[in-house]
Amino acid sequence: YRRLRVALLGAGAVGSQVAALLRLHSAELADRAGASLELAGIAVRKLDAPRETDLPKELFTTDAESLIVGADIVIELMGGIEPARTYLLQAINSGADVVTANKALLATHGPEIFDAADQVGAQVYYEAAAAGAIPIIRPLRDSLAGDRVQRIMGIVNGTTNYILDRMDTEGAEFADVLADAQRLGYAEADPTADVEGYDAAQKAAILASLAFHTSVPLESVHREGITGIDKAMMDAARHAGLVIKLLAVCERLRDADDSESISVRVYPALIDRTHPLASVHGANNAVFVQAEAAGNLMFYGAGAGGVQTASAVLGDVVSAARRHIAGGVGVGESTRANLAIVPIGRV
Ligand code: HSE
Repeated sequence: YRRLRVALLGAGAVGSQVAALLRLHSAELADRAGASLELAGIAVRKLDAPRETDLPKELFTTDAESLIVGADIVIELMGGIEPARTYLLQAINSGADVVTANKALLATHGPEIFDAADQVGAQVYYEAAAAGAIPIIRPLRDSLAGDRVQRIMGIVNGTTNYILDRMDTEGAEFADVLADAQRLGYAEADPTADVEGYDAAQKAAILASLAFHTSVPLESVHREGITGIDKAMMDAARHAGLVIKLLAVCERLRDADDSESISVRVYPALIDRTHPLASVHGANNAVFVQAEAAGNLMFYGAGAGGVQTASAVLGDVVSAARRHIAGGVGVGESTRANLAIVPIGRV
């Protein structure tokens, strides 16, 4: 097989699992990709930080820029805006295809990254940026490209679903279950991003952009978190046959003058216990999609967790490798659907 050099940026919960699986399944991945995926190195901030998996010391470097030079595929799993943005742009401009799980970066600088990729004919893969292991980016971008999505209702944050679920089923208190979610590795480094709905809002912006073939800026996503939810509210909901879930709702609206607009909002919603989303427990995620022709679809699975999210990252790596050896010609893929069809911002 032709050898492709893969550079990994970041060795946190997801990054260390990606590195371990790349090495463990190298023969199988080579067969599927049609290229051998050689992990050229792992760029980290600190060489001596504790890691979740056992990886040879020689792979680690603090010099991300040198690692990017000469890489065919760059996987960015550092999170945060900078230096991730600079490194991704550098990778794109040096001819690599990039794979990222960075929802914050895509929700805030998506157009800049996609434009840079378009200019040089590179691809940006980001299946892991929303709803962890669940394949939802490709279904929205590719499989449903011939349909019209009307509404998405998503449980897209594992931490808040875990917290609300334990408050509902065990009568647990908010603070106690948040500590457990952190211990289990679901929460962001700063759990405010989870409990105040910022993480879900970033994912909602990404999903709505794909579903409605436009670019939804993060600022136009209405956001409320779950910190105001207490036991009494949970009990009242239960007695009424309802359950409280943090939902990301993205929908097409038809205005009185028959024009269309889009509404994207994240908020703790009351849903009927018979709705499929009510049965999403623990740190799982689910994305319920209503499309004009397809009808109702639900995508369900692990929304957080290192090894689970690594599955989505590796799928992207295989796609990037296949495209790379096909000579950089897209295999029926386009990074984004960028036809602006409707105004954004109505809540
Ligand atoms: N903190 C995120 C969550 C991780 O709880 O869903 C996955 O994006």
